[in-house]
Amino acid sequence: MKIGRITLSDRASSGLYEDQSGPEIERVISACFDEPVDFVRVLMPDDLPGLTALLKRLADDERLPLVVTTGGTGPAPRDITPEATRAVLEKELPGFGELMRRHSYDIARVPTALLSRATAGIRGGTLIVNLPGKPRAIGECLPPLLPAIAECLEHISGFRPKLR
Ligand code: MTE
Repeated sequence: MKIGRITLSDRASSGLYEDQSGPEIERVISACFDEPVDFVRVLMPDDLPGLTALLKRLADDERLPLVVTTGGTGPAPRDITPEATRAVLEKELPGFGELMRRHSYDIARVPTALLSRATAGIRGGTLIVNLPGKPRAIGECLPPLLPAIAECLEHISGFRPKLR
């Protein structure tokens, strides 16, 4: 199974610090999926046309079943991940953002969780899921979404990844 993971960060992509969130997505997915997974890895600045074009390419040309983004979901002027995601979605799945904010606030006890505008949805046979940018947020947000991700992939691609 091939999965795209995209880190949106002006600072990490310019070399100011190391991207730890992209590798954290791989760690969580590899630990939870009972399938061999290949990752398409992208680290890029918070660039609306650039992310829109990339999401279209990964969905339409590379036909990846799942693309997970991290970063750029907050209220800062450069945060454009949900806008780029919505621009390419055919169907939005607002429950993903609703669950991660609720889980982060209620269970992980992160009072700033509601600052993330992360969303998710479908383009063709591809499920796109936004996550917040902090490495710790990946471990807080991604695991509770995995049962719905597996179910959604079965609906859109006919293939349901097994979860451990
Ligand atoms: N959710 C979880 N689970 N853990 C976190 O640390 N950080 C919050 C929020 N959601 C956070 C979280 C903060 S401080 C912000 S600004 C937003 O996610 C947006 O983060 P992003 O712009 O890096 O995507």
